[in-house]
Amino acid sequence: MSLNTFEENRRRCQLSESDQVWLFGYGSLIYLVDFPYLETRPASIHGWSRRFWQASHDHRGTEMNPGRVVTLIEDTDAVCGGMAFLVEGSVFEQLDVREKNGYLRFTTEITFDDGTHANGLVYIATPENDAVLGEASEHEIARQICAAQGRSGTNREYLIELAIALRKMGLEDPHVFDIEMHIDRITQQETPSPGRIK
Ligand code: SIN
Repeated sequence: MSLNTFEENRRRCQLSESDQVWLFGYGSLIYLVDFPYLETRPASIHGWSRRFWQASHDHRGTEMNPGRVVTLIEDTDAVCGGMAFLVEGSVFEQLDVREKNGYLRFTTEITFDDGTHANGLVYIATPENDAVLGEASEHEIARQICAAQGRSGTNREYLIELAIALRKMGLEDPHVFDIEMHIDRITQQETPSPGRIK
């Protein structure tokens, strides 16, 4: 699969402008809502885990120094919490550009926090995409995140904003919070103590 999934998304799933579609967001779509929506609700999807296993060559890294961003990994009994947005079909013009670094739109069943369900879409960067980085320890992921930045800002900011948003929603994600802890430690090591400043 090519790195740029923009054209592939358009081919796979034609939406008319007036369609109203639920979109499930689990990464930056939770906290960086730069698209119009009609309604938003806390929600989850079953059978998937959020992992920082996808490279970012554009928003949070570069070709030479990729950052790490989240994708979803199949995980039979897992539940991934996030936010659902009811959007019009035309919004995917903009979202397909934003998510073009390896993410494809898939249909999924979304469970809202009141237990009701709806069918919707979710962007997933599958293990076959050309920007997959794959598994690494939380410490290694944190190290890579601390060293990367792209045109949307630092990779560290992506992680921290996501962790803040998950906490605000009352969601537990040991993978994300563990990376956050390693980032805090790395940041403390990078900051010289007052005694060492000349
Ligand atoms: C998402 O947030 O749902 C997809 C991944 C991202 O844009 O960070």
